[in-house]
Amino acid sequence: MTTDHETLANLLKEDRRFEPPADLAAAANVSGDAYEHAAKDPGAFWAEQAERLTWAEKWDTVLDDSNPPFFKWFTGGKLNASYNCVDRHVEAGRGDKVALHWVGEPEGDTRDITYAQLKDEVSQAANALTELGVETGDRVAIYMPMIPEAIVAMLACARIGAPHTVVFGGFSADALASRIDDCQAKVIITSDGGYRRGAPSALKPAVDEARTKTSVVEKVLVVRRTGQDLGENGWDDDVDVWWHDAVGSASTEHTPEAFDAEHPLYVMYTSGTTGKPKGILHTTGGYLVGTSYTHHAVFDLKPETDVYWCTADIGWVTGHSYIVYGPLANGATQVLYEGTPDSPERGRWWQIIEQYGVTIFYTAPTAIRSFMKQGREIPDQRDMSSLRLLGSVGEPINPEAYIWYRNTIGGDRTPVVDTWWQTETGMIMISPLPGVTAGKPGSAMTPIPGVSADVVDDDGNPVPNGSGGYLVVTAPWPSMLRTLWGDDDRYVDTYWSRFKKQGYYFAGDGAKKDSDGDIWVLGRVDDVMNVSGHRLSTTEIESALVSHPKVAEAAVVGATDPDTGQAVVAYVILRENAGDGGADIVKELSDHVRKEIGPIAKPRQIMIVPELPKTRSGKIMRRLLRDVAEKREVGDVTTLADSGIMDLISAGQATSTED
Ligand code: PRX
Repeated sequence: MTTDHETLANLLKEDRRFEPPADLAAAANVSGDAYEHAAKDPGAFWAEQAERLTWAEKWDTVLDDSNPPFFKWFTGGKLNASYNCVDRHVEAGRGDKVALHWVGEPEGDTRDITYAQLKDEVSQAANALTELGVETGDRVAIYMPMIPEAIVAMLACARIGAPHTVVFGGFSADALASRIDDCQAKVIITSDGGYRRGAPSALKPAVDEARTKTSVVEKVLVVRRTGQDLGENGWDDDVDVWWHDAVGSASTEHTPEAFDAEHPLYVMYTSGTTGKPKGILHTTGGYLVGTSYTHHAVFDLKPETDVYWCTADIGWVTGHSYIVYGPLANGATQVLYEGTPDSPERGRWWQIIEQYGVTIFYTAPTAIRSFMKQGREIPDQRDMSSLRLLGSVGEPINPEAYIWYRNTIGGDRTPVVDTWWQTETGMIMISPLPGVTAGKPGSAMTPIPGVSADVVDDDGNPVPNGSGGYLVVTAPWPSMLRTLWGDDDRYVDTYWSRFKKQGYYFAGDGAKKDSDGDIWVLGRVDDVMNVSGHRLSTTEIESALVSHPKVAEAAVVGATDPDTGQAVVAYVILRENAGDGGADIVKELSDHVRKEIGPIAKPRQIMIVPELPKTRSGKIMRRLLRDVAEKREVGDVTTLADSGIMDLISAGQATSTED
């Protein structure tokens, strides 16, 4: 475990507790008896939660566990996700309610979209996609900035039963192409660009480049957002279609078809321990039940009065579950912000909270730490008394960041829910309930009602309170991933083989149970890094480095970083014919990783080394490299084939270049 020693030491010192505010507890959506109620009969509990949705046909079976780990939920049931997120609110007379307060990055560039307007736009987009040849079951890639059309595009795909795969706009053309290829997406929805840090940032050129690397794409639907020049060869009349033409001219009438509960809703790619990203498959019924229920329970959403804001990007699972499907299924009014937190000024987020009276705010520890660094003077300039609940997701939240978040942003009034979950789990799994749980800074506390999770030892036995081990989920849950796109074997192997005997889902995280049995998530136990709450695989970055003509071999580790949680540190052996690589070698390699994967994967530090520490069987000992990267004394080297190597690398550390 990468963060083990330091985190454990900090945790042992932490004994602050925050009781739920009395008024919140009195009116909370979920009370303490839900734990027992759910545990008594989980099937009945999830059936109750499923009643939150509108089904065209009711299910026969809540959970089909006849072929584990290929679980099915609500079999026989039929529904349409888009209908549940949009139409039913309009039919219930809430068409004039604002669904999205969209805030563009340029000041004053805003749009309020009601549920009725959303229904019209989603219907138009669904008609346009059908017109472009998209049929039920076809995959559609979405590569967009945070503009309302991104949500419309996702819901339009769901409406016609075409699974979407949203690729984060910060990913490179190569990363986009490999995802498109893997799931064979025939249409891409994108935009000319979006605003970031005060300037238009292009997206369409990456789509054009991606198209040269794959032959499956038939049409590209393009939103005009920035109006920027698309370049000389930036438009192909045979393939490219403007959104305002195709969607703008389409009918606002569209009857959603009801799909099987297990119909694929989307594929979301995430990093695993090998170089090839995994296509996590989520299906319709169970996913919507899980996201709707957790959004209601963990955020205590009161749709009539709350203004909710989740700062995630729709390119990540948090955007899928807690911007699009959960909140919209619940009829929430939410803020959607296009840009960066510091544009045009460092207090932009706090200004938005003040302006829209945001009541529930959900963000990531990495953002909180960067605001802490700027100081409380900036948020103190704004009136944020509307806030009543704060959430955190993506990585363990340091107790100090938790306290700062609660005090400075939450006025020492708001509970903080530290929510543990994953792309694979689809929904929040471990979290305090804001009206029930006394929060401990840094702990995700306990599995929410309906979820069974534990911390176990190597043999799969629950560890006693006060000990650490592996985090597992011990019973199926509705929004669980169903498989990896096109790779059932990898699905079984990655998640279900470690604790096969017990039938547990292994999350890949280490955790500790404290003396009360509450869970403290410590971080990944595999070769997956968590940089600013984003998952990156060491192997993926190593492969990118090795694809550079001057590189012979590379090893990547995640080193603890005060800003980003972990940071990418790379050790590179150059090919003989590359000599010393030239004066700009570090920048050259760094740019190469950026091009191959995207800016988030750019190493913080690249060290050119003569050798890598390997065991006699040739396995790279990343543990030792991590020691160097974190400037610790290098640990036990007795299993190294050549124990002198670490001296060479440690010596090189002094002269390495930080990029
Ligand atoms: O290591 C855990 C960490 O993020 C991983 C999941 O990453 P991803 O699939 O990209 O989803 C991120 C958003 C759900 C987990 O395996 N993680 C996520 N939330 C927490 C966390 N670690 C500690 N505490 C959390 N609240």
